[in-house]
Amino acid sequence: MKLPSRVKIVDVGPRDGLQNEAQPVPVEIKIGLVHRLQDAGLKEIEVTSFVSPKWVPQMADAAAVMAGIQRKPGVRYSVLTPNMKGFEAALASRPDEIVVFGAASEAFSQRNINCSIAESIERFAPVVAAARDKGIYVRGAISCAVGCPYEGEVAPARVEMVARLMKQIGVQHMGVADTIGVGTPVKVQRAMEAALKHYDIDDVSGHFHDTYGQALGNTLATLEMGVWQYDTSSAGLGGCPYAKGATGNVATEDVVYMLQGMGIETGIDLDKLIDAGKYISDFLQRKPNSRAATAILNKRAG
Ligand code: HMG
Ligand code: MG
Repeated sequence: MKLPSRVKIVDVGPRDGLQNEAQPVPVEIKIGLVHRLQDAGLKEIEVTSFVSPKWVPQMADAAAVMAGIQRKPGVRYSVLTPNMKGFEAALASRPDEIVVFGAASEAFSQRNINCSIAESIERFAPVVAAARDKGIYVRGAISCAVGCPYEGEVAPARVEMVARLMKQIGVQHMGVADTIGVGTPVKVQRAMEAALKHYDIDDVSGHFHDTYGQALGNTLATLEMGVWQYDTSSAGLGGCPYAKGATGNVATEDVVYMLQGMGIETGIDLDKLIDAGKYISDFLQRKPNSRAATAILNKRAG
């Protein structure tokens, strides 16, 4: 066991969380969520995606959201850019970090970004080069790192291959994503080990959707490997429009509650985080999808 003493959390709620919402979410509400997350102590927020509005209508306002944020010193703002068109559009928004997102499964790559894995690497290469040239940090994500909605179980060797290809084109950090939340602790450890063949422990993160209720267990299992960076979503929002039935990322509130209880530093104020999750949940007219948030809100009410 090599548990880290501190963990960095990237809240992906405004992006992964909201991209899956059918009802329009106004720019001001998205900005309001980002502001509440930074006030709660989040040091990185995945704000939006510069993707095709035909593919993901909810992210069509990417530039307006980025333009409306009052940036807080010390906070990093990341955005998804699947190709040069997205990267060029993102540049005016001055992101601190961009994310190129590939997949360990061919079928998911086709459904999500309309190209094969090999073609995706070709598309990412100029994006990565242009970003690094401008001093913008490049994170990569490998979707379907344990399972695919179309192909079923995914072997760790597939993750190893995509990690190797991404490393070759200069991607600096690798996020191992369980897109549909089918992973269980040992499988997720194997997928992480595959990424660690090409990336240092300080350059990997876990991105676990919670569809089957395994994401907190998967987080603990990878913490025990020394992984100290995670993508989580406030109020457990989200899912991917091209992974039907998959629910949101593990709730930021649940992860922060667990880490606090383990004495692991996050720099996040849990009460303010609960307020952020409640704010967006109230707008969406539902309860936060977080056990910790529910418990704390019930306690407050009582
Ligand atoms: P395509 O149709 O193959 O692209 O889509 P194209 O290059 O042939 O262009 C077709 C049209 O799209 C053209 O417009 C382009 O200008 C436009 P038209 O001439 O028809 O009017 N276009 C764009 N517009 C805005 N921004 C762009 C852009 N690129 C082309 N960047 C493409 C390829 C990648 C664009 C498309 O498939 C797409 O947008 N996919 C994104 C899907 C997505 O956002 N999925 C969710 C995020 S990934 C995720 O959630 C997983 C993650 O959380 C990790 C995990 O959990 O697994 C990260
Ligand atoms: Mg995701």
